[in-house]
Amino acid sequence: MNEKTREKPNPGIVVLTGAGISRESGLDTFRDADGIWSRVRIEDVATPEAFARDPERVHEFYNARRAGLAAGEIVPNAAHAALGRLEAEWPGGVLVVTQNIDDLHERAGSRNVLHMHGELLKVRCGFCDAQAACTGDLGVDVACPECAVAGGLRPHVVWFGEMPLEMERIYQVLEGCGLFLSIGTSGNVWPAAGFVAHVKQAGGAHTAELNLEPSEGAVLFDETLYGRATIIVPAYIEKILTAGW
Ligand code: APR
Repeated sequence: MNEKTREKPNPGIVVLTGAGISRESGLDTFRDADGIWSRVRIEDVATPEAFARDPERVHEFYNARRAGLAAGEIVPNAAHAALGRLEAEWPGGVLVVTQNIDDLHERAGSRNVLHMHGELLKVRCGFCDAQAACTGDLGVDVACPECAVAGGLRPHVVWFGEMPLEMERIYQVLEGCGLFLSIGTSGNVWPAAGFVAHVKQAGGAHTAELNLEPSEGAVLFDETLYGRATIIVPAYIEKILTAGW
């Protein structure tokens, strides 16, 4: 164990993940050359205005992604599994703050997962605010299981222009952690892109970026490792569990 880890035994670890960690499971990222936003316009499918204008178009987009996720061949990969191992074996707290709306972290054994951009396998009612599980197709004629009114259900995801979920809790754990790990995110979207600076301001924590290529905020990290998540994440987690950071 090195100096930092000895200072506060078992400090908490916060892991921010993005679409890159699920790429090798067969889920597209957003901004890579073959990414989702190279095929679909954000303004057509991922804003409250798009939903107000053409809800069926928005449902079609998320229904296709939900069907893809529910399809048998999409399974967690070695990077997800390594984070499940970290939570199980690290004596301090481990929280995965994910921008991803898939359920691969949970399927890989992570329990402490905070979906700051929502979850694809959940819906929310615009009339009664109830949330419910959803693995099938959604449409304007589907009634809310709680208030039974049709036309108000929307994917439980955070669209552009909306506030991400549980931001107060996220900033609290960022300020108290000993290690901030960022995996598979391009650092283009705020407020997640600002987490590393927030951790640095809070002082003390070690910060590391694991990604295929440098993100927008790469220079802010104490440590950077580049490569495919299924290769570099298990190796880095092994290092943390055996020698700290
Ligand atoms: N292993 C590691 N990193 C990878 C891999 C891989 N196999 N494949 C791609 N990456 C990296 C890319 O280099 C890129 O930096 O993952 C990152 C994905 O970046 P984005 O597509 O921008 O995805 P993300 O950062 O998660 O986007 C943030 O934007 O579109 C919104 O709400 C959406 O949550 C999303 C948010």
